[in-house]
Amino acid sequence: MKRILLGVSGGIAVYKSAELVRLLRKQGAEVQVVMTQSAMQFISPLTFQALSGNPVHTEFLDADVENAMGHISLARWADVLLIAPATANTIAKLAHGLADDLLSTLYLAATCPVFVAPAMNQAMWNKTVTQENVETLFRHGIQVIGPEQGDQACGETGYGRMTEPSAICTQLFALAEHETLEVKPYLAGHKVLISAGPTCEPLDPVRYLTNRSSGKMGYALAIAALNAGADVTLVSGPVALAAPVGVDLIKVTTAEQMYQAVMAKATSHSIYIGAAAVADYSPVLSQPEKIKKHDEQLTLVLQKTKDILADVAVLHDRPFTVGFAAETHDLENYARDKLSRKNVDMIAANWVGQEQGGFDSDQNALHVFWAGGDKILPMTDKAQLAEQLMALIAEYLKVV
Ligand code: PMT
Repeated sequence: MKRILLGVSGGIAVYKSAELVRLLRKQGAEVQVVMTQSAMQFISPLTFQALSGNPVHTEFLDADVENAMGHISLARWADVLLIAPATANTIAKLAHGLADDLLSTLYLAATCPVFVAPAMNQAMWNKTVTQENVETLFRHGIQVIGPEQGDQACGETGYGRMTEPSAICTQLFALAEHETLEVKPYLAGHKVLISAGPTCEPLDPVRYLTNRSSGKMGYALAIAALNAGADVTLVSGPVALAAPVGVDLIKVTTAEQMYQAVMAKATSHSIYIGAAAVADYSPVLSQPEKIKKHDEQLTLVLQKTKDILADVAVLHDRPFTVGFAAETHDLENYARDKLSRKNVDMIAANWVGQEQGGFDSDQNALHVFWAGGDKILPMTDKAQLAEQLMALIAEYLKVV
């Protein structure tokens, strides 16, 4: 995927699209930008011209632009059309085939894969008509990236924030590659089960114990396995990431729920990768009512959770089992200990609590151990790292 046509419609998230252009170009893509009239109220076309290195297209009937590249040839030029941010109005136009400006006309003329990253106020996103329009886009084969949950520029909180540029970039390349099958489908016929994200262990109706896992590593692995041709089931704790399109997603909250979900699926999969940060301990009792602050000190009684990884590894018909090890010190010793004690086929060890990598970072590095070998996968984007780990697993299984 080399030529990306970026459609920018008008919302406050436009400023993120400038960073998106920079990241897309960093990945080696050529980028042309089309802006709607309202997008230009937020940011000047000059910004996108400077970042993309190409003139920005803004007018449907601009004689100069039409001479240089008419909307049909611009649509033909693109390997991918990405619309980010996609406002509620733009989404409505795409869903209903309206063509009253350059961007909506280009969309109708485009034959390449189309991706949209919605951005709007949470109430607008939740409106039935917007949800119906998004549903229509899905049915028309458009890939929808996000939106994410969080604080909004309007002061409200909820779903509607545009996905961060780095995450759009990762998903775009992964999904587009999957669509055009640029990656060799070396895991075709394999079923890969992946756990991702944290678990939340309730203390009472309003409090829980959890950890810093964002799910980025596990979700990147799911996309990498999908790109390699596998059927993918992702068991995910609570995260703020969009479900990768094409993955069978099972959402869970607690360690016990993750245990049940993974154990129910394990033997019907050929590979299991435990990337989730499962709580090691959970409150013995979740109080039915909010715990009151009567006393100076409060003692919580915690019970060890079931070890999902170790229990998958002892199943009679077990999948090829890969665990993670998150360590703040003595990484190699602890990783090798987990490899033998949990009786797994591979352990991917990563440093956590460092400046770079580990929890909630876009980057990571792994030291992978197996009986009779090990390999260091140096610090890189989690998307790339996930592909390297999938390739290593496939090599071990001799399927590449
Ligand atoms: O989600 P991100 O923000 O992208 O961060 C990625 C990550 C740091 C969470 C990930 O790379 C990682 O290291 N995941 C494993 C975290 C962890 O819990 O490590 P651990 O060393 O405590 O556990 C070892 C292995 O046992 C892990 O495969 C874990 O999934 C598994 N385990 C742990 C406890 C339990 N009750 N059941 C398990 O299956």
